[in-house]
Amino acid sequence: MNIVLIGFMGSGKTTIGKALSSQKGFQLIDTDEMIEKEYSMTIKDIFSSYGEARFREMEKRAIEQLQGIDNHVISVGGGAVMFYDNLAALKKVGITVFLDAPLNKIILNLRGKFRPLVGNTIEEDKLQKLLESRYLTYKKADVVINTEALDIQQTVDAVIKQLGI
Ligand code: S3P
Repeated sequence: MNIVLIGFMGSGKTTIGKALSSQKGFQLIDTDEMIEKEYSMTIKDIFSSYGEARFREMEKRAIEQLQGIDNHVISVGGGAVMFYDNLAALKKVGITVFLDAPLNKIILNLRGKFRPLVGNTIEEDKLQKLLESRYLTYKKADVVINTEALDIQQTVDAVIKQLGI
């Protein structure tokens, strides 16, 4: 089986993915990393050179390439489920888990880290609007974990408990 972590940027998908995969003996795949490797470019450079629409095509292709894998924790970019039929495709690959982090936690996690859709300075209003526009789609995940009061290990434990693994 595979576990697919979805959720907003800064919600902890990468951190939780690393901890969860090492704890349960799963392999870890990150679709952003797949894209960076395939095109030998950073996500930042892909956005600035080719634009978001091209990035979304690359992301769709990366998700298609996940078909057939097993025993993986898969972390996908925060916008992935908003485009094409990616959410349905991811649900075929594994159990989708939405890491539901509150905006203040997201902002803390994003501080000092560049994201093309955020830029160098975090505008809280802009981020909140983007999160709101995605929230109902994220909630369509098979499992929703509210991480507000949870640290990293507690979040991993909550995923393990919810999935019964
Ligand atoms: C994006 C999130 C990023 C990355 C790209 C677009 C988004 O991934 O895929 O910058 O649309 O929210 P993370 O969620 O890992 O930051």
